[in-house]
Amino acid sequence: MSQTREPVPASRGTFPALRGPLPALKVALLGCGSVGSQVARLLTEQADDLAPRVGARLELAGIAVRRVGHARDPGIDRSLLTADAHALVARPDIDIVVEVIGGIEPARSLLLAALKSGRAVVTANKALLAENGAQIYGAARDYGADLYYEASVAGAIPLLRPLRESLAGDTVHRVLGIVNGTTNYILDQMDSSGASFAESLEEAQALGYAEADPTADVEGFDAAAKAAILASLAFHTPVTAADVHREGITEVTAADIGSARALGRVVKLLAICERSDGGVSVRVHPAMIPRSHPLAAVGEAYNAVFVEAESAGRLMFYGAGAGGTPTASAVLGDIVAVARNRLGGTRGPDASTYAGLPVMAMGETLTRYHVALDVDDKPGVLAPVAEAYARHGVSIEAVRQTSRGEEAQLVIVTHTARDAALAATVRDLEALPVVRAVASVMRVEGEEE
Ligand code: HSE
Repeated sequence: MSQTREPVPASRGTFPALRGPLPALKVALLGCGSVGSQVARLLTEQADDLAPRVGARLELAGIAVRRVGHARDPGIDRSLLTADAHALVARPDIDIVVEVIGGIEPARSLLLAALKSGRAVVTANKALLAENGAQIYGAARDYGADLYYEASVAGAIPLLRPLRESLAGDTVHRVLGIVNGTTNYILDQMDSSGASFAESLEEAQALGYAEADPTADVEGFDAAAKAAILASLAFHTPVTAADVHREGITEVTAADIGSARALGRVVKLLAICERSDGGVSVRVHPAMIPRSHPLAAVGEAYNAVFVEAESAGRLMFYGAGAGGTPTASAVLGDIVAVARNRLGGTRGPDASTYAGLPVMAMGETLTRYHVALDVDDKPGVLAPVAEAYARHGVSIEAVRQTSRGEEAQLVIVTHTARDAALAATVRDLEALPVVRAVASVMRVEGEEE
């Protein structure tokens, strides 16, 4: 028997509350720095647009800051400021807690308190999620609270929701991305100007792309935290920052960049999350990629992430990975999502860690190396070099030699091999009498040629 449905009367739309005065949902904002001040501004300026999208008015009820007397954006309503973040979170009228303080404490105890009292939580805190993710996700699950964190990885770029929801029916094999704008800016400068790392860092600092203390960015800590979050979502497996193999860009030289350029490659700091038979490998390190690779075209401080999934194939996400207003866009999107959930009496998906795949040691990960050697240009040089590769079972893909009088530069790119075997090969090369200097060692990503 066929059934026909009654059409829904126009007055009974998705948001029945629109017919009368809208309810209000109260938002507590923790932190009012570059992202927090933009969240506060956008919540206020866009209030009339956000209300019908949500079905409730979003009211900024308080802003917790370290120093109430500090100079701030004139758009911030100073009457909302408080130095007592714990008291703000505990206020019974608060529905949604938005955390943009960053770091581990006091963010961790504030978020746990919010989740335990059933508040919906929106956070941009990559360090906390990468370090204490199990505790935070566990509290959200145990207390039935919502937890959204789109802004924690790659700023404005919608990436976590696609992994958490859109690709929930697919099998992700690989996530490969540029997730740190500061280092991308520095490497881009080194590539276009031939400048050293130190010169490019100085310029990035002068232009405000790099912090006065750039350690978190240039040593890869920021990217490693993001890689842990991406890998956890992509592979339904708990991955912490400590599981991520991390190398920053401080050792990248102008010679590395030049060597890459000569081979039609470019150096990028990549976050690479891969699934293989041995488990998952999660790493952050500089790598040479072909200039034809879509990630090679990502310049300045932009971020881009390449996702390879069984059925979806290859997807690329690109955009602003940092900055107050772009990051606030991702926070606002999460606020709208948790507000809609709250009105609908539902919540977003819990962290999915059912797969529990082992995280592989870096030495067991399959990689490819580019090595540039300054060698004597005389008979019998290639044999011991090739022998060093053969000894460790590493297959050579390409060799290029450039003669420079009595010296030559040999550039050798390998096929895929265990990273430990490649590193051992380099140690043997360094000890060879025919090798004057190892000018450049870097991993290679992208298509094998
Ligand atoms: N410092 C980061 C970057 C932005 O340079 O991309 C915040 O994660």
